Amino acid sequence: MNANEWTPGQILDTSGFYWKTCTLHCGVKLGVFSVLGEERLGSREVARRLGADPRATAMLLDALAAMKLLVKSRDGYANTSSAQTFLRKDSPQYLGHILMHHHHLVNSWFQLDAAVRTGKSVSGSSSSTRDEEWREAFLMGMFNLAMNIAPRIAEEVDLSGRRHLLDLGGGPGTYAIQFCKKNPALRATIFDLPTTRPFAQKTVARFGVEDRVDFQEGDYLEGEITGRFDVAWLSQILHGEGPEGCRSILRKAVAALEPGGLILVHEFILDNTRDRPLFPALFSLNMLLQTAEGQAYSDGEIREMLSEAGVTDIRRLPFEGPNQSGILAGVIP
Ligand SMILES: C[S@@+](CC[C@H](N)C(=O)[O-])C[C@H]1O[C@@H](n2cnc3c(N)ncnc32)[C@H](O)[C@@H]1O
Repeated sequence: MNANEWTPGQILDTSGFYWKTCTLHCGVKLGVFSVLGEERLGSREVARRLGADPRATAMLLDALAAMKLLVKSRDGYANTSSAQTFLRKDSPQYLGHILMHHHHLVNSWFQLDAAVRTGKSVSGSSSSTRDEEWREAFLMGMFNLAMNIAPRIAEEVDLSGRRHLLDLGGGPGTYAIQFCKKNPALRATIFDLPTTRPFAQKTVARFGVEDRVDFQEGDYLEGEITGRFDVAWLSQILHGEGPEGCRSILRKAVAALEPGGLILVHEFILDNTRDRPLFPALFSLNMLLQTAEGQAYSDGEIREMLSEAGVTDIRRLPFEGPNQSGILAGVIP
């Protein structure tokens, strides 16, 4: 059979995959994995601790066991080691924030047909601005994702000799922190909206780099960036804006850099044909749903926007991250 063709089984699996998604999200949202902790508990006891219905809780626990996130035995249910590591709130490798961010997006994805018909976002405002719980899931979800790759990026991107990095739209500052940890002479400024400050400050303190990483409150669309930098890191921010917004952000980043400064753009990058890789193509739909004009950009489009902003020596770094994220680098003449 042609490798590009789908079997009925694959079509049905893809169509129904969201049942698994929702079961996982429910386990995290209710705190099943945190309630179980290191213990082995019966379903009635889990239901009691969750304040949930006993019959429904037993059904949820069985489904989570079928998904191999829990182990069921005569004495009850226990976390698997993956659930201990990634799904318990008190684990340093907890992924629950990004899972809850995904959960917050589910309603909008169910309205994809409406967004495609109208060409308009279906979410009133972006998830980062809804309320405290949504903001925490979004920003600390970004931390969950970035922690998977930031240490590797800090190893692979050569910042030797650079003194002051601008982490534009830096969120919790994951990359600023890792770049500073790798380069002892580097300082960094996280530039982000005022509501992001507490999350960034907490993360910076957690890694003990308060003396080298500061936070500048601002709006990269409406306001200006204060200070002079010799490297700018723009990770996963351009996709939130239309081409005009991106051009304006890039102009401001370039203006904040010294001659010889390095600009680095990290995004889920489409091939120039735009129909691959898969994740950036799907991510573009996510941006259609969540933002007024956002989208995934192709390698060629990002190069062109960088060039229009006055950047030279534009090149794609060898790095390839999960979900086909890539980095384009250039220099300010
Ligand atoms: C997708 S997150 C990326 C965070 C981080 N750079 C990373 O890669 O993990 C986008 C970030 O841009 C920030 N942001 C969105 N609009 C902004 C604006 N107009 N001015 C400044 N920051 C903004 C958000 O608060 C968020 O921290």
